[in-house]
Amino acid sequence: MSDGYINFANSSLGQTLIKSFGLPNPEILDRYEAGQDFIRGSLLLGAAEGAELSSAIAKTLGNSQSPILTSGDTAAKALKSAKLSAASYTPNEEDGQKFGALVFDASGIKNSAQLRQMYDFFHPVARKMAKSGRLIVIGRTPELCKDPKEQTAQRALEGFVRSCGKEIRKGSTSQLIYVAPGAENQLDSTLRFFLSSKSAYVSAQVVRISKAAEQSVSNWEKPLAEKVALVTGASRGIGKAIAETLARDGAKVVCLDIPPSEEELKAVATELGGEALALDITAEEAPQTITDYFKNNHQGLDIIVHNAGVTRDKTLGRMKPQFWDMTLDINLSSEERINDALLAADAINENGRVICVSSISGIAGNMGQTNYSTSKAGVIGMVQSMSPVLNKKNITINAVAPGFIETAMTAAIPFAIRQAGRRMNSMSQGGLPVDVAEAIAWYANPASAGVTGNVVRVCGQSLLGA
Ligand SMILES: NC(=O)c1ccc[n+]([C@@H]2O[C@H](COP(=O)([O-])OP(=O)(O)OC[C@H]3O[C@@H](n4cnc5c(N)ncnc54)[C@H](O)[C@@H]3O)[C@@H](O)[C@H]2O)c1
Repeated sequence: MSDGYINFANSSLGQTLIKSFGLPNPEILDRYEAGQDFIRGSLLLGAAEGAELSSAIAKTLGNSQSPILTSGDTAAKALKSAKLSAASYTPNEEDGQKFGALVFDASGIKNSAQLRQMYDFFHPVARKMAKSGRLIVIGRTPELCKDPKEQTAQRALEGFVRSCGKEIRKGSTSQLIYVAPGAENQLDSTLRFFLSSKSAYVSAQVVRISKAAEQSVSNWEKPLAEKVALVTGASRGIGKAIAETLARDGAKVVCLDIPPSEEELKAVATELGGEALALDITAEEAPQTITDYFKNNHQGLDIIVHNAGVTRDKTLGRMKPQFWDMTLDINLSSEERINDALLAADAINENGRVICVSSISGIAGNMGQTNYSTSKAGVIGMVQSMSPVLNKKNITINAVAPGFIETAMTAAIPFAIRQAGRRMNSMSQGGLPVDVAEAIAWYANPASAGVTGNVVRVCGQSLLGA
């Protein structure tokens, strides 16, 4: 279902009424189109004294055609040593300069007093962000900082980034990337994703990057070439968008859905040059059927996206036991059984990706959704518990937690609640299925080997559970 209010809000009458009555003001978000540069507009790079990640950042920035500017000596030196030309920028209130991205390497911040450098860099340019701009802070994983003062200061960055997400309007986003010592070579895919319009509806997120073996990508337009992916619940909604996006990125996609949806499923698979597998994931034989399918037809699989899910809402006192059982089984237990079978048969290939779809209901809880929220919080538990186990096999596991996404599932919500769901976030709008799919494609990227154990919300910084 489309949200007519966004178009109205972006008309001249809409703008007049919004300003007069203080109504929500959703921007039309800049979304990815094939061939687009991952930086949109000029980028300003700054760095704290003693910053350690600027060379890694420069390596990524060197792959863009967009103008790079620097503020301060530390960032300028890093770019120079990376042989990247960048003009130096001195903030001036009158210069009319707009930035598509503001990036700050905060890895040198060792104590709370040094947090002042965040203010010094961002304050003069905070109002110079272009529409759909990107604010990114890159720091060191707090839990891995040996000095408590450094850990405190690095943890403080979260409050900064989340507040910025609420201040920088106009469809802009704000993120924090923590890089573990030794994981500097893993930053590229994550920095590209958060700079690009692929992360249009992801804001105020904190991502942790860990050490991993380096995996290179030769063609960033087709990073999944020669990869085989399974997407469950792929006949419609978010699952269909995931299948389309992974196929766009070069993967051979096997689309799975329940037998009654076989016709729609086949249409999606045919359109993508993929394959259709009509199967109920809760069926007793499903884990073995899936395992055999990939062993026999594809020499295993590289990416599995556990997207299939249902809601069966009722307050706890009114909930029938079959609605509890069904929701838990589809959304959580079947995923565990399928993972177990694939792993036992060694059917997930080296550098594989397990990607789960949770929900902000699994983080915040929701009225009438004890069953759904339990299952989706369990998905987060599965990511956290399985990530060290899978790490030993060079397989990553991560989840997305969508907020309000425009699909058949949310179209069924009563009008007033649907409107509230759309507006209660920093972007004053619902997301699109493709917004979830783009985050999944980032996890799936071979260069995201250092991204594991993360749960990223695709919710426009929803107020729920924030
Ligand atoms: N739409 C949202 O706002 C939103 C928000 C948070 C999380 N999610 C999650 O995103 C995922 C996709 O949601 P959607 O909005 O596209 O829903 P949807 O209802 O449009 O699609 C879900 C798909 O899963 C399939 N499915 C259900 N049970 C299955 C089973 N037993 N075996 C195989 N396939 C099965 C359905 O047939 C359907 O095609 C779900 O896990 C949902 O919980 C959605």
